[in-house]
Amino acid sequence: MALIKKTGKVKLLEEEIASRSVDLDMDGTIDIHCGIAHTRWATHGVPSEINSHPQRSDTENGFMVVHNGIVTNYKEVKTFLQNKGYFFESDTDTEIIAKLIYHFHKLHPTYSFRELVEQVVQQIIIPVFLSYYTLPYSEHRPHGRSEVPVLPRSESTADIQPLEDNEVEYFFASDASAVIEHTNRVIYFEDDDVAAVQNGALSIHRLRRSLDDPHAREITTLKMELQQIMKGNYSHFMQKEIFEQPESVVNTMRGRVNFENHTVTLGGIKDYVSEIKRCRRLMLIGCGTSYHSAIATRQLLEELTELPVMVELASDFLDRTTPVFRDDVCFFISQSGETADTLMALRYCKQRGALIVGITNTVGSSICRESHCGVHINAGPEIGVASTKAYTSQFISLVMFALVMSEDRMSLANRRREIIEGLRKIDDQIKEVLKLDPKVEELAKDLYQQKSLLIMGRGFNFATCLEGALKVKELTYMHSEGIMAGELKHGPLALIDDQMPIMMIVMRDPVYIKCMNALQQVRSRDGRPIIICEEGDNETAKLACKSLQVPHTVDALQGILTVIPMQLLSYHIAMLRGCNVDCPRNLAKSVTVE
Ligand code: F6R
Repeated sequence: MALIKKTGKVKLLEEEIASRSVDLDMDGTIDIHCGIAHTRWATHGVPSEINSHPQRSDTENGFMVVHNGIVTNYKEVKTFLQNKGYFFESDTDTEIIAKLIYHFHKLHPTYSFRELVEQVVQQIIIPVFLSYYTLPYSEHRPHGRSEVPVLPRSESTADIQPLEDNEVEYFFASDASAVIEHTNRVIYFEDDDVAAVQNGALSIHRLRRSLDDPHAREITTLKMELQQIMKGNYSHFMQKEIFEQPESVVNTMRGRVNFENHTVTLGGIKDYVSEIKRCRRLMLIGCGTSYHSAIATRQLLEELTELPVMVELASDFLDRTTPVFRDDVCFFISQSGETADTLMALRYCKQRGALIVGITNTVGSSICRESHCGVHINAGPEIGVASTKAYTSQFISLVMFALVMSEDRMSLANRRREIIEGLRKIDDQIKEVLKLDPKVEELAKDLYQQKSLLIMGRGFNFATCLEGALKVKELTYMHSEGIMAGELKHGPLALIDDQMPIMMIVMRDPVYIKCMNALQQVRSRDGRPIIICEEGDNETAKLACKSLQVPHTVDALQGILTVIPMQLLSYHIAMLRGCNVDCPRNLAKSVTVE
């Protein structure tokens, strides 16, 4: 058994493997038929080779484990094992799994590998809301070479077509995009499934049996194409995903918005619309960018539903043990559908009897499966860690929901028509905004050596300030802050001088005059704002030291067009600062830990 680890990019690992191909016997004299791999997002212990997975049971490489998530009771188990004389080489919680399997193996030498794994998972607490899996690989497999148990929850396992002599290859992964290169046929596992491959056959065992267990797991055929998850002609996934937005927003609306008779149908929630209309309030819950999509659409939801709308960060919502009632409707917005905070908030609301609506980009994800109903945003796979096209598609999904909710209000007919007409043109307008790319790149050259960037706006464009600042922070490691322009005089004005980099979003919408006041306040303190304003609005642009002009659309949709220059700007600043655009330091695409 060979164990190879590297910190840094996966490419370095590839190089290491290539350089060791002789001692790995990659020329094929030994039948290498099974492997496990993992990229680690550090929870316990710093990122280092020793803390990287696989973690092993002993120096003879007896049992190897990779694992996603957190073992909550790892300290207790570690103490137990240390008292039994086990020595730990890493700071990870995962290592206890490998040691515990080894411990059970010594106690029960006749147990099969699957039985050992089943014993172990009954001793460790891996909170069920986490997406996790263990793939132990072992020298001590009493039942043949090909036995690979796996303990998954929201993972996919895939089989591909027979190779030869009816042999089948199996892949276990925590995300379907990892296996799409090899197959589009996947099985999603349920809580408490333990799968094992032995002598070429896959079997799935249940840790705890219940009467309503389905007897078999269905094979799902993925629609995702490999080319959808490749970079194509772009340098980075993030860049590709920014430039895909004219198509991704159309995919979000496809088959849902009828531009001829100005109607909207959301198949995933249509049976629940009358129940939703009778609710006490709407709660929109998410994290990071997904949370911002809720902020971006709250005002329109309030206007078109005439219901109270609460927008909540999932972590804070849980910290406050917020009161939730049976007649609440709770929306959970998540690109990945696996974010632990959001999933826990979902379960919290479900337990209290609220109706659960999932807004996700990942079919088959935990949030999808645990919602009563929902809307797939259909943005296509998003690979760059920084969310871009998912944001605009979440935005449009929530706008479509607001339109559905107001379908029988005659008094709102004109407003609805205006918004649907705005949606009709939005893809072409996004293409126009994307043409600003060279200009945004020039702007990035002015900004990339700065320490900080303030982004101000209000009304429908406040969310763009928050989302723009998040993109700048996570991609460029520069400080950035989204500021509600109405709050300027309550503190942030003290930051303004002729050195502080400032961006302001000033659109010809109902808060234009108020934004102009803020702009004047900034100017009179020697501030030198870069302004995002509407095409042809030279009066506003005149007050800027530099401006970016985006097409005019209906006020409630303007945030879709103002956020794109911010996505491009953060991309270019990150490039100029030499940052890893697709994988910013310390971050992960699916945050499956609390
Ligand atoms: C920022 C970003 C994160 C995610 C957040 C929630 O670019 O990607 O802030 O938006 O971690 O993730 P999802 O939407 O998968 O629940």
